[in-house]
Amino acid sequence: MLYGAFGKPAPAPGPPRPLTRPVAGGLLPHFMSAAPASPAVSMDAIVALAKRRGFIFQSSEIYGGLNGFFDYGPLGVELKKNIRDCWWADMVRRRDDVVGVETSIIMHPKVWEASGHVAGFTDPLVDCKVSKQRYRADQLFFSPVIVEGAVIGYVSALESERTTEDLQAAAETLKRKKAVQGKLEPVAPRDFTEAKPEEVPLVPSPATGEAGSLTPPRAFNMMFETYVGALRDASAVAYLRPETAQGMFVDFRNVVDTGRVKLPFGIAQIGKSFRNEITPRNFIFRSREFEQMEMEYFIHPDADWLACHEEWLRWCQDWLQSIGLPATHLSLHEHPKEKLAFYSRRTVDIMFRYPFGVQELWGIAARSDYDLKQHQQHSGVPQVYFDEATKQKVVPHVIEPAVGVDRILLAVLCAGYAEEDVTDDKGNVEKRTVLRLSPRIAPVKVAVLPLLKNKEALVARARELHAKLKRNYAVFYDEGGAIGRRYRRQDEIGTPWCVTIDFETIEKDGTFTLRERDSMQQRRITEAELFQLLAEQVY
Ligand code: GAP
Repeated sequence: MLYGAFGKPAPAPGPPRPLTRPVAGGLLPHFMSAAPASPAVSMDAIVALAKRRGFIFQSSEIYGGLNGFFDYGPLGVELKKNIRDCWWADMVRRRDDVVGVETSIIMHPKVWEASGHVAGFTDPLVDCKVSKQRYRADQLFFSPVIVEGAVIGYVSALESERTTEDLQAAAETLKRKKAVQGKLEPVAPRDFTEAKPEEVPLVPSPATGEAGSLTPPRAFNMMFETYVGALRDASAVAYLRPETAQGMFVDFRNVVDTGRVKLPFGIAQIGKSFRNEITPRNFIFRSREFEQMEMEYFIHPDADWLACHEEWLRWCQDWLQSIGLPATHLSLHEHPKEKLAFYSRRTVDIMFRYPFGVQELWGIAARSDYDLKQHQQHSGVPQVYFDEATKQKVVPHVIEPAVGVDRILLAVLCAGYAEEDVTDDKGNVEKRTVLRLSPRIAPVKVAVLPLLKNKEALVARARELHAKLKRNYAVFYDEGGAIGRRYRRQDEIGTPWCVTIDFETIEKDGTFTLRERDSMQQRRITEAELFQLLAEQVY
């Protein structure tokens, strides 16, 4: 097969017209078995590799860093760009029903009033008055400690994979400390948004372990404010966008009027978003400046929105696998009705198994006609689509797949990272660190290595091949050190193939040694075959 399903042109649509244009279904063939990350993979190892090999740095590091902000280094920026490019190619260019836009980061402040963000884009904030630490109330868990039916105190713990175990251990410690006899009941964790007013002063702060310093939760708006123009008063307040989505809604009429689009159709955008997160954490997973890839898929109000939602859910899962995320690391989380965001009829998150737990990667929301209706009301400009079939003006409904580029990047690093024992030809066992990145997104596709750097003919041929390859691909030329060491350097940054120019190349048949990253197997390959391999795998 030449291309994975996402590389193929979509089949021509035929009646009955589906809600979304057909995309080849099923799971995608993968070039390499993206092996599940070893269970031992730790965030420390990922962060260390990211820094060591120039993927990701702390922002403003020489000034001590700025919490929640990150910089992408030479390899990180390539990896990120490849993720964006794959998404754009599959979501926009290879489909007939999705167009792209790039809207401004600072929009008219009324956009955010209409969308509900000014009033409702809040997280529940809790302060510890003693330590000055701040917590998100929904990430701070507590429980009464009950012995023989009597409450002897409260324990608290921050959300983690082991919240219940941590609370139970703390409860046992408290019982011991207070020298209370009798049977300890299992803890009953609740998050701090559910604390009754009389419980608030009794819950210990996770920072100090002492009760009495936590404030009741209060709504904290996460939008960053700024001023537009020379005045610094309330009339000049504007916001850095907390999502790219509103750009697509606000430009809906512009696209309909100019884009020759017909329902159902989507408007997609990739761009930076900003949220003043109370607790940025887990490296780039939750940061204050991040990048989103969002698509608003507009459907007729009478269309089967649930079927459309399901279809996009499947598409997103398939796409994640097409860039190498193993299905074993993915799962779905259906938001319970009572916890849905204010705009949502149904939201399902695609979850990823990160080293710090199973967390949201991609949200697929059915937003009904909420946004267009809100903008219609607040702007006074009709946000309608003229339906040729019924000769009626309708306000379309929306299905929205919204994902963060940084979260995908972290997921591919975590899923691809492995430390392995490998045995060389002489039977020596050594460690190798390998990043199993799909060739679609790997920052370097091929490394070109002359076997010896002091043999002019080898070097000349290697440089010639390097120059040819780099017209189309990110390639790396490396002549320093033993060949095995050069392979290891490429393994660690996820380069799928190394090509060695050796004596057979220049003295015999012109073929190179192709060494595959995952299997570490080597075979002879011609230049034409190398280009064919790249054309098949890098799309
Ligand atoms: N327009 C809908 C929307 O923005 P969301 O669930 O708030 O929905 C969509 O965000 C995606 O953006 C998330 O699934 C996640 O991948 C990414 N994201 C959200 N907040 C983020 C943060 N603070 N840091 C990194 N990525 C974030």
